[in-house]
Amino acid sequence: METDFLVIGSGIAGLTYALKVARQFPEKKIMIITKAREDETNTKYAQGGVAGVWDESKDSFEKHIEDTLIAGDGLCNVKTVEIVVTEGPTRIKELIEYGARFDKTESGDYSLGREGGHSEHRILHHKDVTGKEMERALLEELQQYSNIEVINHCFVVDLITQHHLGYLVTKSTSNITCFGVYVLNLRTQRIEKILSRITLLATGGCGQAYRTTTNPKIATGDGVAMMYRAKGRIENMEFIQFHPTALFEPGVSPSFLITEAVRGDGGILRNKDEEAFMERYDERKDLAPRDIVARAIDSEMKRTGTEHVYLDCRHMDKDKFIHHFPNIYEKCMSIGIDVMKQMIPVAPAAHYSCGGIKADEFGRTSIINLYACGECASTGLHGANRLASNSLLEAMVFGHRCYLDSVEKISSIEIRRDIPDWNVKGNTDPKEMILITQSLKELQQIMSDYVGIVRTDVRLERASKRLDLLHEETEQLYKSTKVSPQLCELRNLITVGYLIVKGAQFRKESRGLHFNTDHPEKSDLLQNIVL
Ligand code: FAD
Ligand code: SIN
Repeated sequence: METDFLVIGSGIAGLTYALKVARQFPEKKIMIITKAREDETNTKYAQGGVAGVWDESKDSFEKHIEDTLIAGDGLCNVKTVEIVVTEGPTRIKELIEYGARFDKTESGDYSLGREGGHSEHRILHHKDVTGKEMERALLEELQQYSNIEVINHCFVVDLITQHHLGYLVTKSTSNITCFGVYVLNLRTQRIEKILSRITLLATGGCGQAYRTTTNPKIATGDGVAMMYRAKGRIENMEFIQFHPTALFEPGVSPSFLITEAVRGDGGILRNKDEEAFMERYDERKDLAPRDIVARAIDSEMKRTGTEHVYLDCRHMDKDKFIHHFPNIYEKCMSIGIDVMKQMIPVAPAAHYSCGGIKADEFGRTSIINLYACGECASTGLHGANRLASNSLLEAMVFGHRCYLDSVEKISSIEIRRDIPDWNVKGNTDPKEMILITQSLKELQQIMSDYVGIVRTDVRLERASKRLDLLHEETEQLYKSTKVSPQLCELRNLITVGYLIVKGAQFRKESRGLHFNTDHPEKSDLLQNIVL
């Protein structure tokens, strides 16, 4: 198969890009590959909304920039922050033109929510199911373009580079080029190659590396892992964001999110003694940036010997709550919690990867003709901690910027056709799925126990050793058995785990989401860890 533009991922990042190149080049072919159904993405589960300066009588770009920089704890790239904040509202307007419906007040203005770390109300939302509405609007808009082909249930295994032509490719090779990808077609169970002029990685997050996560099953860090295997640059993976308030429901995975917007509307965190403990941790209380709130909850849970704290909404107006958060209200009711009468048990869960594939201000990666945007990319926007509701915004802004750069390049890129077919390594069927499922559980256990909200040198060292063993066993399995999505995902998650641990070990300080009790201070040296 051949295509001009190959887009891996059908979340907000991939779809934003695909729509733009499709409109610009009606004669060119755009292929979107996704490993599940096209709407099964992190995007679909976004609740709180998308941040953007909307009401300039109260808000300003300067304030949104400052809030983002404060949350990022010294590591944001200021230029990237300025780009995203100032271009963001235009991208949101485009989404509204595609048909996305954001909630309005009775006076007809957009109803703006507030979340942790934001100094103003600036979050556009659709009830508490904003991502679902955005994904719907984008997928419907896609129907307008006959030059876009969406291929779902197709698992991208690896990027094709000079390595597949027999050349030695190392981290110091300066002209590594992407010629397309090898994919496992889940319908035929065969590995096929797709050749492309330009490829975009929009593969989303990696929350599944942890036992408790808000991310759906597809979030296995595939893009980051395949980029690392292709000797591309990965940055700041130690900054894994834990959302403070996932519903505490033992045995249920992924965890259901209780959006931060609930705290924005007045929800209060309380410990088992019903004390509103956040005021002991930060003057911004329940609306402090996420790293601070998640650490405070972790500390309260450890201090009181509990597995969760509570989110108290009992004082909130019932009609307003149900109007803004119908999905949360229903979910809690379904498990016997009437949020107007009982407090909601919540605990932190792995939520967002702030680091990822190193990408510049146009989403260009260290590999030629390969772009990255959305959660899998590290553009410098989030620094050491992402400001709530900035990621949907980033994905749209960078989807657009990748498109701008692609327009300049596409006519000068030829498809490379001398690429060999996939080299089948193992032939036997994986007889014991338990080898894969058990290793996945082990990985999640290691990451949650030793590389969670609070880290120490000893825990990181232990994680590193355990991961080495898992890596060795899994590579053995990969060489001897037929490729399956479960095995590929396990392999990718182990790589992601390795990158998180290595980043955490290199960072001899505590900053943003990375907190190591052996190095509790911030270093004077501002450093991005690139692997
Ligand atoms: P995704 O939307 O995750 O899409 C990834 C795509 O890549 C999928 O189509 C997947 O199938 C495909 N893919 C991955 N690997 C492969 C492979 N190997 N082969 C083929 N296809 C592959 N952010 C906000 O700004 N505001 C919010 O309110 C908000 N709420 C959130 C709530 C929840 C519960 C979660 C989980 C996240 C939330 N976020 C929020 C974060 C935000 O939703 C994500 O960061 C964003 O949607 C990521 O979009 P994306 O396009 O980069 O990736
Ligand atoms: C939420 O709704 O709390 C999630 C927002 C985000 O992750 O940006």
